[in-house]
Order: sequence, then structure tokens, then C-alpha cells
Amino acid sequence: MLKKLSATFIYYDAAMTTAKRLEHFGETVFATWSRIAVENNAINLGQGFPDFDAPEFVKEAAIQAIRDGENQYSRSAGHPLLAHAIADTFEFPVDAMEEVTVSCGSTESIANVIFGIVNPGDEVIVIEPFYDSYLACLSMAEATPKIVTLHSPDFTLNEAELRAAFSNKTKMIIVNSPHNPTGRVFTHEELSLIAELAIKYDVIVLSDEVYDKLVLTGTHTPIATLPEMYERTITLRSLGKVFSVTGWKIGWAVAPPKFTTAIRCSHQFTTFCAATPLQVAAATALRAPDSYFIDYANEYRKRRDTLVDGLRSVGFQVHSPEGTYFVLADHSPFGFDDDISFCLHLAKKCRVVGIPPSAFYHQSKEGASFIRFAFCKGLETLKMAVERLQAIG
Ligand SMILES: Cc1ncc(COP(=O)(O)O)c(C=O)c1O
Repeated sequence: MLKKLSATFIYYDAAMTTAKRLEHFGETVFATWSRIAVENNAINLGQGFPDFDAPEFVKEAAIQAIRDGENQYSRSAGHPLLAHAIADTFEFPVDAMEEVTVSCGSTESIANVIFGIVNPGDEVIVIEPFYDSYLACLSMAEATPKIVTLHSPDFTLNEAELRAAFSNKTKMIIVNSPHNPTGRVFTHEELSLIAELAIKYDVIVLSDEVYDKLVLTGTHTPIATLPEMYERTITLRSLGKVFSVTGWKIGWAVAPPKFTTAIRCSHQFTTFCAATPLQVAAATALRAPDSYFIDYANEYRKRRDTLVDGLRSVGFQVHSPEGTYFVLADHSPFGFDDDISFCLHLAKKCRVVGIPPSAFYHQSKEGASFIRFAFCKGLETLKMAVERLQAIG
């Protein structure tokens, strides 16, 4: 049965078939807004995938791996070549065989951590706005989210609100820095506060660091490197962002063996292993020289500045992102009721698509005054988008 929710949104009526724990989630905003981009022949600054190709040496490594016969299931926890390459990238000692679990993107790792460790009824602190799979996985695990909001305009952690969220029922906190969608890179003080509370309440930290190489201003501190934090932290990272291969879906979880056992228990029954030739190519990619990562961040600084300056020149209020390839722009100066009506206006009038970020909030209504743009696009695309946005009024 088709349900027409508005002129643009058509969903199958989820209540007919979808289990109760998922029926209120519907289609992800990324699918919806990518479709709207196509319908309006718009520049898609919605979903975070690059419109430029992966580096040649990474593509060649995948082709070579296929030719070399790396085409069957790998070791479930990850091809040894990749597990060792991952361990070598870490800022602290990591046992490649005992502490690394490779998954189909870090999205699968998020699910593995939650399904492997969190019990029904456990409280998990989630910082909003959030990457949308956190809440869906918590719902599938029948856990209880406790939300802490990063308030605009600067999106810093509010100490009193964070303290109030912790209790003896808290099992885990999910921390994402560099943070999608605000572009915040949490300061040492913010991470130390999380660490202090995690230790006090004996809480596990799921640290989503998929943008660790996309620090554009300031420095990223892996929370596992803070005192007494290694033993309670699971760190997630991903290949897709840093080598422009989001479609390869190679991610990993690094955690002490007690957590890794639980993560692998879920992983063996969800996907068993990630694509073998892509794992082998990922091992080559991760051993790229430092200059690759320096150039990579410098290119993104140019993209960020082009988009942020352009958005400001058109009239948006923008908190310039310190990391990631996303920017949250405040559209209030244009007088729209909410983010969805603003995003639709932009798609139709300017032929530019961004994501309405209320989908990344559970508690606060603050998302309604923002739009999220992704700047993982060529400079020409970003300049053209800014030019089109001149027609906004
Ligand atoms: C914060 C965050 N975590 C995890 C992911 C998932 O990454 P992957 O493509 O490796 O599954 C994303 C992707 O956009 C993200 O933004």
C-alpha cells in the first residue's frame, strides 16, 4: 500500500510489513534527497560522497588483488594484511589479530558494537545531531537512548546536560569527533569531561572517528589515548572518506579483546567478512605516504572555504567546520518555517540539494533552522552551487 505523505514523499506504508522496532524510521533522508536532486536536476550537496574519483594507486591495488585471486571469503575478522595495516595506523599499540575487526563500512561496525554489547533496556547516551544509524541500531537492540544536544550556534558540549545524562543505568556513550553534521572537532577539555564521566559510571565509549583524517582546524584527540580510557573504548574508523571510496564499504572497529569478542560475535552472523579484494587494496591504501594525508586535508580546506565563504556571501549564518566534509548552515535569515520547506525551496528554485538536519535530532527542534551541505565535491561544482544559490530569495 502506497502512502502519500506530501507532494514529494511517497513511502510504502511501513505499518503493513515492518517490525514495530523500525516502523517509525521510514526511508533514510539520504535516499529521499538524492531522489529529489535527480527530479530537479540539482547539484547534490546532500549525501556525503565525493563526485571525484579515488586515487589511481588505490584502484590499481583493487584490480591487482582481483587478478591475484583474492576473491574468496577472507578471515572473518579481517584479512591479515589489512588488520596489520590498520594496527599500524593507530596512535596507541593495537594487536592486529586480537583487537581489529574489519566490517562492511563502519556502519556495520556500529551495528556490531550495539548488537554485540548492548542489552534490551540498557541506556546509551547519544549526542545529537547524530549519524542516523545510531538510533536505528539502538532501536533494533531495544536499548534506551538518552539524548544530549549540541546547541547552536557553536555546538559545544554542555557540561551540565552531559552530567545529567549519566547514571548507574548508562551502559555506553556514542561519541563522534570529528562530528557529522556540525563539523565540530571536540576539544581536549570536552573529551576529558566525557572520559571523567565514563570512568565514574563505568561506561563504555563508542568513539566514531570515521573523519579522523579530515581535521581542517585544530587537532583530533582519539579518546582512547586519554588516561584509563583505552580499556573502555571502541574506536571506529573507515576507508571510504579518506580514499574517496565510500562505495567500497570498508570500516573497522578497534577495541580491547573483551569487546572485540562481542563485536566479532555479531559480525560473523551479519556479514561474516568484508569484500576480500577491497580489503587487500585497503591495506595498500593505508600504507600511503604521509604526504597523501597532508594533501588530502589541504584540498578539503580549499573546498570548505569555497563553500563557507559562498554561503556567507548569499546570507547564511555558518559555523565554519573544524573537521569532516559537512557544514551546517543556518537558514533563518530567509524566513522559512522549517528545514524541509527550506530544502524543497532550494531544490526547486536554485537546483541545489542539501539535507534537512531535523532527521539527525531526536529531542531538540534546533535542526529545523539548519541545512546540511556536503563539500566533498570538486571546486567547480561548489562554485556553481554558490552561483545558483544567488537566486535564493
Ligand atoms: C559519523 C559517521 N559514522 C559512520 C559513517 C559510516 O561510514 P561507512 O561508509 O564506513 O559505513 C558515516 C558515513 O557517513 C558517518 O558520517
